[in-house]
Amino acid sequence: MSSSLDLLKESTKKASELVSRHEFIRVYTHYDADGISAGAIVAKALLRAKKNFQISFLKTLNDDFEYEKGTLLIFADMGSAYPEKMSKVESDLIILDHHIPVGNINPKRNLVHINPHIFGLDGTYELSASGVAYFFAKALGDNNDLSSTAIVGILGDKQKFKGPNEVVLKEGKEGGYVEEKEGINLASGKIKKVLSLSLEPYLNFYKKDGELEEFLKKIKIDGEKDFEDLSFEELQRLSDAIALRLLKLGTYEGVFESIFGRRIVLKNAPIKSAALLTDVVNSCGRAGATGVAMGLLMGDRSYLDRALSIYEDYLTKVHEELLKRKNDVKEGFCMRYIVMEDAPTTSLIATTYSRYIFTEKPLIVINRKNDRVKVSARANEKIAQKLNLAEVMRLAAEKVGGVGGGHKVAAGANIPSNKIEEFLKEVDRICCTALA
Ligand code: C5P
Repeated sequence: MSSSLDLLKESTKKASELVSRHEFIRVYTHYDADGISAGAIVAKALLRAKKNFQISFLKTLNDDFEYEKGTLLIFADMGSAYPEKMSKVESDLIILDHHIPVGNINPKRNLVHINPHIFGLDGTYELSASGVAYFFAKALGDNNDLSSTAIVGILGDKQKFKGPNEVVLKEGKEGGYVEEKEGINLASGKIKKVLSLSLEPYLNFYKKDGELEEFLKKIKIDGEKDFEDLSFEELQRLSDAIALRLLKLGTYEGVFESIFGRRIVLKNAPIKSAALLTDVVNSCGRAGATGVAMGLLMGDRSYLDRALSIYEDYLTKVHEELLKRKNDVKEGFCMRYIVMEDAPTTSLIATTYSRYIFTEKPLIVINRKNDRVKVSARANEKIAQKLNLAEVMRLAAEKVGGVGGGHKVAAGANIPSNKIEEFLKEVDRICCTALA
């Protein structure tokens, strides 16, 4: 592992040399927690290197991006899967991504392409875009404190603290920016509220106040207490009860290790609970408030109240949707799917259902909004050993005139609104071939 990571670090040095040749840099990044934290890391590192820059957020690279010819462009959490677009860029280019690379990029100027997959590292579970951005930032200067921001992306993309991600965590701990405590990786705050609004883990307590009261009474825990104030024994009882509830719900077994055992504290962040900060950043991004999330990750506490209120509103909407749509999930032969109209998100619904309720087949979540169709597809590691969802999305979307891609376990597509049925048939067909 170390030699692959060394190779990746070598290329971050090349990227930093490229940065040194430019005074102004245009940064584009993805609007999810991993993309925003990668953006915040790049922004902080460039500020400290006394560079001028402008940063913008994109949903996908199908959206247009602007730049002045000759200006250094940095793409974070995107770029590797869009070789045609990248090959057309008439500027120096740095790509800090972890999506599975597709095809070849033929750059018009200098290109430094940093992606764990290129160096034989696991970009699905062991290095996210925020982690790549962290190693890039370290090549630019003394930026070890940004390890805590990188952890937001690692958690946001449901990665594991293995391989290079473990290095990020270790460096954060050594620098005193990150602390690992025993416990449950749940958001912080009043217990009742945390349990009823939690999505990671999803506990199915939303609008079930009686059930929640009963649950807390059984384990003799005061729901009005703050999570941080629980005694060790209380935390233990809560952990056991949560584990039992998750088992009853049908949770995918691989989820447990990310929830139980450790609780990560980000000592230099405006929200100390890594789980809560990740959820807040993710919600702000999904709710269209990328600037608020970015401000927060840059360390500006004045964004805190707004960010928390966006997070609560957004989570409430998502929980409403999760309750409402549960019975709309349909069985394909080798996958499950749901077609929604005007839902607030596809991503969180797909992630939550596929991890906690509809776990043993790939899940395809489709949303039609203003004649645009967004697809989110999710599978767990067990399924991904046989099937690469990024490929499934890319091939099925291309068949119906759309575009798709992503990761083995979390992928997406955009397709024409009159092609939903045809698309689903093709997805099911490919899934059956792969899973046979
Ligand atoms: O939006 P969602 O979270 O479902 O996206 C999952 C993954 O699929 C992301 O990594 C995203 O970049 C990727 N995706 C893609 N092409 C699309 C839509 C999503 O590569 N058209």
